[in-house]
Amino acid sequence: MSTTPDSIGKFPPNWTRRHLLDLESLSAEEIQLVLDYASRFKEATGGCRTKLSVLAGKTVANLFFENSTRTRTSFSLAARRLGGDTVDFSSSGSSLSKGETFIDTARTIQAMGIDLVVVRHPTPGTPTLLAQNLEVSVINGGDGAHEHPTQGLLDILSIRERRGTIAGLTVAMVGDIAHSRTARSNIWGLKKLGAHVILCGPSTLVSKDWEQFGVEVAYSLDDILPRCDVLNLLRIQFERQYTRPFPSVREYALLYAMNRERLSRAKDDILIMAPGPINRGVEVTPDVADGPHSVILEQVTNGLAIRMAALWLCLGANAKAATESQR
Ligand code: CP
Repeated sequence: MSTTPDSIGKFPPNWTRRHLLDLESLSAEEIQLVLDYASRFKEATGGCRTKLSVLAGKTVANLFFENSTRTRTSFSLAARRLGGDTVDFSSSGSSLSKGETFIDTARTIQAMGIDLVVVRHPTPGTPTLLAQNLEVSVINGGDGAHEHPTQGLLDILSIRERRGTIAGLTVAMVGDIAHSRTARSNIWGLKKLGAHVILCGPSTLVSKDWEQFGVEVAYSLDDILPRCDVLNLLRIQFERQYTRPFPSVREYALLYAMNRERLSRAKDDILIMAPGPINRGVEVTPDVADGPHSVILEQVTNGLAIRMAALWLCLGANAKAATESQR
């Protein structure tokens, strides 16, 4: 890799992960390290707008088997802002339709000289399967309802930037917890950094079983609202549901949508977050989504910073492992 500017610093000796597959297996120190490097990259690139050349000569492949706006675009931009090249693969129009297996497809793309794969797939565990079968680094861009580690990290970075710390905060995730990979990554990351996490939504979407992970489960947003420092409003993922989890969208919005009236009963400095895409009028009303408490677009910018850090760290660890295996 090219010379790293002083503002980023040397490659951290305590980062050894070639892949970023989840937040469950990361330590609190590793999570803090990614956040710290994301902040450095954000500053060194003027808020993720200017270029560095630390990934010159490296190629990142986006293998997306589900739709995406934020994740796919920001991984591409992050790689290019760091001087790398990118290639986008979509399953539609590919040779998968001719019977080529998923692993053969990934190995074919690897053979074209790429260095890192970002994969999004509806099946949980797909990124791990790729990491076991490829020599290049793998980053999970969302696998079914399992995890979305860079989303969890960018959410946590956005909170840390506004509050300075995560420890001691009460963070509620509201909505479709059952189908949310974002919720799972946030739970692991926030708990490790010392937050109190509340999961809130209809009982059909928030099981009491979650309590075994050390989180609070609540069914009334109005009851928990005065205690919350952060609300992360999750989209109802109708596309992953086989039966309707509540009688009507109108009833859901009545009970769980963050609106102006609820905001008046929340803490003065509450942060309103959403991983996106948002459904205006369902989980959040437009005036709240676009209002002064909302950090939804800051989350998007921080997605670039986190993905710059994740690419640089995983590629650096892979290069280090390759050098050491040659000794
Ligand atoms: N939050 C998120 O993963 O958005 P996309 O589906 O647009 O990538």
